[in-house]
Amino acid sequence: MSFPLFMWQLVRHPKTISAIAPSSTGLARQMVSEITADTGRVVEIGAGTGVITRQILAAGVRPEDLSIVEMNPKFCKVLKAQFPDCNVLEMDAQALGELPLENVGMVISGLPLLSIPEPVQHNIIKGAFGLMVDGGKYVQFTYGPKPPIAPAVREANGLAWRCLKKVWLNLPPAMPYVFTKKP
Ligand SMILES: C[S@@+](CC[C@H](N)C(=O)[O-])C[C@H]1O[C@@H](n2cnc3c(N)ncnc32)[C@H](O)[C@@H]1O
Repeated sequence: MSFPLFMWQLVRHPKTISAIAPSSTGLARQMVSEITADTGRVVEIGAGTGVITRQILAAGVRPEDLSIVEMNPKFCKVLKAQFPDCNVLEMDAQALGELPLENVGMVISGLPLLSIPEPVQHNIIKGAFGLMVDGGKYVQFTYGPKPPIAPAVREANGLAWRCLKKVWLNLPPAMPYVFTKKP
């Protein structure tokens, strides 16, 4: 059910989805590999059909501690049905900073960030770090060779970054990154 829905929505909204297939389970596991018992609340943005969502919960985050942000109404319907105890928010990730959430330790993003214009990227990243506690981590994958946040946006938000493990078993292979505020 989820895969055909993903492909159909890709045909209808190629710019906002901007991926040829949902993430593999291997990529989703890498994306959640920094979650620990101390992470606190997690916000997932660009959840699509919920591949990464499932791994966030499998990593031990309680459903009530997971907020899911997705702008596509069809995906939201599926997400609400699959994860009835999570807070599924049908909204643009640009409004992240307005969410009344506390103790957010991590934002995990499946957004096609580098396909998004820089001013919009900036709003999303500023909002994500505004939402998180000190030391919060923003996790984002990319298919390309460069960090998945534009240099000007990284600079404006004072971000440092490191790579996690490259995932070859994904279409196409992908590299997850962790971004934090520079000390
Ligand atoms: C590449 S898909 C990733 C789906 C899933 N996380 C995965 O890894 O398979 C990107 C998702 O981001 C969503 N999206 C794109 N721009 C968005 C925005 N500004 N706010 C919220 N969701 C957005 C799309 O609707 C789509 O579901």
